[in-house]
Amino acid sequence: MTELDPERLPRHVAIIMDGNGRWARRRGLPRFFGHREGVKTAKRIITKACEIPIPVLTLYAFSRENWQRPEEEIAVLMDLLRAYLREELPTMLEKGIRFRVIGERERFPEDIQEMITLCEEKTAAGDRMTLVLALSYGARAEIARAARLLAGEVQAGRLSPEDITPETFARFLYTWDLPDPDLLIRTSGEQRLSNFLLYQCAYTEFYFTPVLWPDFTEEEFLRALAEYQRRERRFGRV
Ligand code: IPE
Ligand code: IPE
Ligand code: MG
Repeated sequence: MTELDPERLPRHVAIIMDGNGRWARRRGLPRFFGHREGVKTAKRIITKACEIPIPVLTLYAFSRENWQRPEEEIAVLMDLLRAYLREELPTMLEKGIRFRVIGERERFPEDIQEMITLCEEKTAAGDRMTLVLALSYGARAEIARAARLLAGEVQAGRLSPEDITPETFARFLYTWDLPDPDLLIRTSGEQRLSNFLLYQCAYTEFYFTPVLWPDFTEEEFLRALAEYQRRERRFGRV
């Protein structure tokens, strides 16, 4: 087992869970099977992160751009999300998980929106780990939204343009109360951000692995954390 230094754990790990479709295709199965396996992986990694514990875990589950996928695939993803929210609430409560969604929740079916609100409200006191699910999330849209909200504040006379600093700007992002990710993991060999947390990742360490998300194990996760602990973070200093 990979050993970790408990003193140098990341406060926030963000994961781009990629490769479900390829996992299925390699087995000659429809993409759906990959997504179903992907949910199982997500559950295992959430449990592991909670054990360690990692204070904040953000999972990119559905991007704004993913609405362009075929209708049938979107329907499958909605069903999986529905089942996840319905089944996992007791587990989240038991583990002390505080659940949060970032992204355009208003674009989801009504019943899913209600389940999201219920999970957020019921788990609000969770103090072991914050689990953030990025749903219909796009970083550029998030940044534009923050600018819109700030413009409203200025128009209402509550803020002057001079007050707009990187810190005040960040208070209008979905992640206003969360630390920036220390580590970002992307599976499946792709080495890009795909419109994920652009503002928040200014000094994040990136970890790319060719492993497809359904095959990503707890041990792989520990390996990524160990690699993070070997990195020297400078933040512009010498
Ligand atoms: C990630 O796997 C899951 C979502 C984007 C919802 P993909 O579905 O992108 O899998 P690949 O990249 O096609 O293999
Ligand atoms: C990014 O994966 C979004 C999620 C993992 C939810 P994609 O598979 O959608 O990204 P691209 O299209 O390869 O950039
Ligand atoms: Mg993909």
